[in-house]
Amino acid sequence: MMQDQNLTSLPQPATRYDGRLKVTGKATYAAEFHADNVAYGHIVYSTIASGELTSIDTAAAERASGVLAVLTPFNAPKLAQTGRPSILQSTTVRYNGEPIALVVASTLPQAVYAASLLRVDYKQTPAQVNFAAAVPTAHDPKRGPSVSKRGDVAAGLARADVKLNETYSTPLEYHTPMEMHSTIAEWDGDKLNVYDATQGISGVKQTLARAFNLPMDNVRVQCPYVGGGFGGKGSVWTNTILAAMAAKQIHQPVKIVIDRSAMFGTVGGRPHTQQQIALGADKSGKLLAISHDVLCSNSFSLDFMESSANQTQMLYESESCSTSHRFVDLNIGPGTWQRGPGESTGTFALESAMDELAYKLKMDPVQLRLVNYAEKDPSNGRPWSEKHLRECYTQAAERFGWSKRNPEPRSMKEKETLIGWGMATATYPGGRSGAEAQVRMMPDGRVITECGTQDLGTGTYTILAETAAAELGVDIKSIDSRLGDTLYPRAPGSGGSTTANTVCPAMQDAAMNAKNLLLNLAIADEKSPLHNAKPEDIIAQNGGLCLRSAPEKHDAYTAILARNGGQPIEAKGQSAPGGERSQYSFHSWGAVFAEVAVDMHTNMLKVRRVVATFDIGKLLNMQTGINQFHGGVVWGVGQALLEEGIVDTVYGRMVNGNFGDYHVPVNADIGEVDVTVVNIPDYKANTLGARGIGEIGITGVAAAIANAVYHATGKRVRDLPITLDKLMA
Ligand code: MOS
Repeated sequence: MMQDQNLTSLPQPATRYDGRLKVTGKATYAAEFHADNVAYGHIVYSTIASGELTSIDTAAAERASGVLAVLTPFNAPKLAQTGRPSILQSTTVRYNGEPIALVVASTLPQAVYAASLLRVDYKQTPAQVNFAAAVPTAHDPKRGPSVSKRGDVAAGLARADVKLNETYSTPLEYHTPMEMHSTIAEWDGDKLNVYDATQGISGVKQTLARAFNLPMDNVRVQCPYVGGGFGGKGSVWTNTILAAMAAKQIHQPVKIVIDRSAMFGTVGGRPHTQQQIALGADKSGKLLAISHDVLCSNSFSLDFMESSANQTQMLYESESCSTSHRFVDLNIGPGTWQRGPGESTGTFALESAMDELAYKLKMDPVQLRLVNYAEKDPSNGRPWSEKHLRECYTQAAERFGWSKRNPEPRSMKEKETLIGWGMATATYPGGRSGAEAQVRMMPDGRVITECGTQDLGTGTYTILAETAAAELGVDIKSIDSRLGDTLYPRAPGSGGSTTANTVCPAMQDAAMNAKNLLLNLAIADEKSPLHNAKPEDIIAQNGGLCLRSAPEKHDAYTAILARNGGQPIEAKGQSAPGGERSQYSFHSWGAVFAEVAVDMHTNMLKVRRVVATFDIGKLLNMQTGINQFHGGVVWGVGQALLEEGIVDTVYGRMVNGNFGDYHVPVNADIGEVDVTVVNIPDYKANTLGARGIGEIGITGVAAAIANAVYHATGKRVRDLPITLDKLMA
């Protein structure tokens, strides 16, 4: 899959740090930890979309075998503050599937059975569950991302030689991680220990401390491995709070694992979007006007905006641009971040519209993008930290063979099969925040690195170990890379492609500080070959320190520690973004090319190839980095062709909340995937030159496929997913 000539010059990648543990089943996920005498919680969900709970008769359930507690809004302890919805704090029902009770029993079957004995009475009120029929709310800046405007869009459109005005839509989508949301909570007096499947142990700790009115350090959260996050585990959901609440109530540890069916709609998902885009260009293709107006489905239980128009403000040069986002409030489950939140749905619309504009102009779609290439950030006038999008277009187009494309729709055929080639731009912000880390040099030569971050399967263990190994000049095999525990130095949640950018510089700082402690010991020690050497002449390599000019004058870390009491030495490190953040604009870039094959008679559609090149700064690890891009592309195929959450427009119930009916790509759906990077470091992002990878891999993929489908068939599908019925019309 990866014959990456251009990558062979990179340092040989360390293999995935946690790979062996995962494939041998030794990686312990949240629900797999041991807790003595653990009880099982089963959540009960509302069966109406809107109204009030008038009563829940728990008598029969409470009498059932093994039942330890039944918590409902009528008897649940009041929480101090959660900032989260649906924690049995109110009798109001805001969507069908909202958690309304928790049954706790000695075994899971006992809890599930007892839950069936609950008698729930509601007073129903009319529900608004139909996105198409609902009236969008007026724009309200207090409720999330909003409007932007530069120049005069109406004037730009009036002057334009070529215009388009189209509406694109994307459905409800769900994260569908392999590992369902799960929590084990146990109390020791007023200390709370939690194993939680999460993208942010520090956020879970903070939320629990606030909810139960605890000093922050009374809460410990552990999550060494995550079985898929995709944004869904970026928030604290009902399972976490309810496990802690129930464990407190029954004085026993409680485990809750969200049912697979409840993974669709009760723990967040991508909102439904409807996006209107107007473009105006002169004859040369130069954009004079862009407008992008987004309607986003939203739950009455919790505000979340899919900010689909964000990239439209910065991706192309245009003398005028306006964007807006408005909510369509509904009685449906809450929205949350999902796989390239904003940009993955937003680039579907914008990059489809750009393709349509290219056809109107009779211009190559890559050329149209180059004509409108933004040399600095059009939204704020700042220079980019780094931008090598031109190289992405060139490299991916060449690997794909784009120059052989006949631009005429339906012109490329293989017997009864229509072939389509399409492309799109990928982009995602290069965010960064602050973190701390610690390095402990052990007398036996091991190096223990600790950082309170988490690894969603993206490779955080691996790149932290590599960062420390490189700074200390030790073999990566001597690194014991530890994360996923709030006892480790504080790091933020893993989301928005910020983790590598945030935690690796902190680890580098900790490693440098540890190295300097040892260096000072060596210089002061007359038994050291480095006695009285100048610090600037000393480098780290081969498990110790040596003179740059005379590497044979080498003092191993183990030797330095042995001569200085034989105790471990530890050092902390930290990093945070600084003034560069207001000087430059930080974004990652990419170009995605797709080939589809469509059967002329049946419209059977297959994505044969996706070729993509990304600029994410320096690639820290080829194996885990390219894996992430592959994952992004695979999810892009799902978004383009398969994924669609369907809510019944009468009852507001999820219709297809299971893996039989909600389709995600399997191996047979995926053709050739060829991903490369330009690998030019961005030292304005941080000292390692690496921005993040996580989100960008999915962006642009759905548009490239939709554009390829148009090229193959002459049919423009503006409503995802591209299912066969839409090609028949
Ligand atoms: Mo990403 S959707 O912020 O995990």
